[in-house]
Amino acid sequence: MTAADLAQRFKQIFGGEPRIYRAPGRVNLIGEHTDYNDGFVMPAAIGFSAWVAIAPRSDRKLMMRSEEFPGDFEFDLDRMPAKRVGAWCDYVLGVAVVLRERGYELAGANVLVHGEVPIGAGLSSSAAVEVASALAMLATISQPESMPKIARLCQQSENEFVGARVGIMDQFVSCMGKAGHAILLDCRSLEPKFVPIPANLRLVVCNTMVKHDLATGAYNTRRAECEEGVKYFAKHNPEIHALRDLSPELLDQHAQAVPATIWKRCCHVVRENQRTVDAARALAHNDLARVRELMRESHRSLRDLYEVSCRELDIMVEAAEDLPGFFGGRMTGGGFGGCTVNLVGQESASEFAARVIERYQEATRITPQVYICAAENGAEVLS
Ligand code: GLA
Repeated sequence: MTAADLAQRFKQIFGGEPRIYRAPGRVNLIGEHTDYNDGFVMPAAIGFSAWVAIAPRSDRKLMMRSEEFPGDFEFDLDRMPAKRVGAWCDYVLGVAVVLRERGYELAGANVLVHGEVPIGAGLSSSAAVEVASALAMLATISQPESMPKIARLCQQSENEFVGARVGIMDQFVSCMGKAGHAILLDCRSLEPKFVPIPANLRLVVCNTMVKHDLATGAYNTRRAECEEGVKYFAKHNPEIHALRDLSPELLDQHAQAVPATIWKRCCHVVRENQRTVDAARALAHNDLARVRELMRESHRSLRDLYEVSCRELDIMVEAAEDLPGFFGGRMTGGGFGGCTVNLVGQESASEFAARVIERYQEATRITPQVYICAAENGAEVLS
């Protein structure tokens, strides 16, 4: 895909010369279900992006078309829906609605979206569309914003318009990704630290090809359980505003008193935060044995304490563990399907992929997809 190709197709559909914006999907190395607890995450942007071609119109219409999904969508900027319409265009429309609500004077526009991030795989295809759309719409009205601000607006669009209570991780890394680096993000201060990934490592992303129905419901339940944990512990220490503030000591003191499920959830979050900070340090020092251990603990904790893994993810993780060139792996993203992420030596990556495919297929009868990725740059203007 090149910007020129997309511009050409845009011209055929709408006429006129578009500007082109691109924003990537992501993989999370460690720090899962911590972002909405004000904690730490360590994602990297990957080489699959959403592309948005845009040109202003002289009327007040927002016209949207996708290269992957059928249907043309047309909305009047002054009569936009307040909630999702239940189609792919929600990720563009939601950003427009939130921008309008925040006082940005949007202009009419033609929009063509091309998405190459695998959909439903937990690689943040929707965040990529949101970020590319926000960049595009803000540039069209000559009101550029900082990348962290754009990430926040896109998260709000997903929370308020689409109705998914996601954290800030996906949108942030899509905006701020840096080639060759993961981002250790403090989701409270939004302060990023760029952590170099050793150049000889690849991020091998293995797609289980399943997405279990309970994903969205369970995500919201987990969030509610975390909030319940905060409520409980805040009674013992009023300084606790999010699970980020809960110390391992206080957690342990109350192990018998807190309802078992809530305790397990809190336990995962508190320890996952520590693992994430530790993994950033270990990765920066090229201590891959430690990274491997931490990723392994993260997966077990997501499986046993947070309970968001599934059979297919566990099989995919196990399929990787003794292969040559493997330096750590776990499920990545929200869970209940989607992908695992594996750190693999560059020279072993193809063989690794072939072996994992074989093993997974044998165990599940499902043919997985495997993407050999590296950390890439975040969102950008292409033309
Ligand atoms: C989804 C959400 C993120 C984050 C992860 C779990 O990807 O979009 O905000 O909560 O799940 O770590």
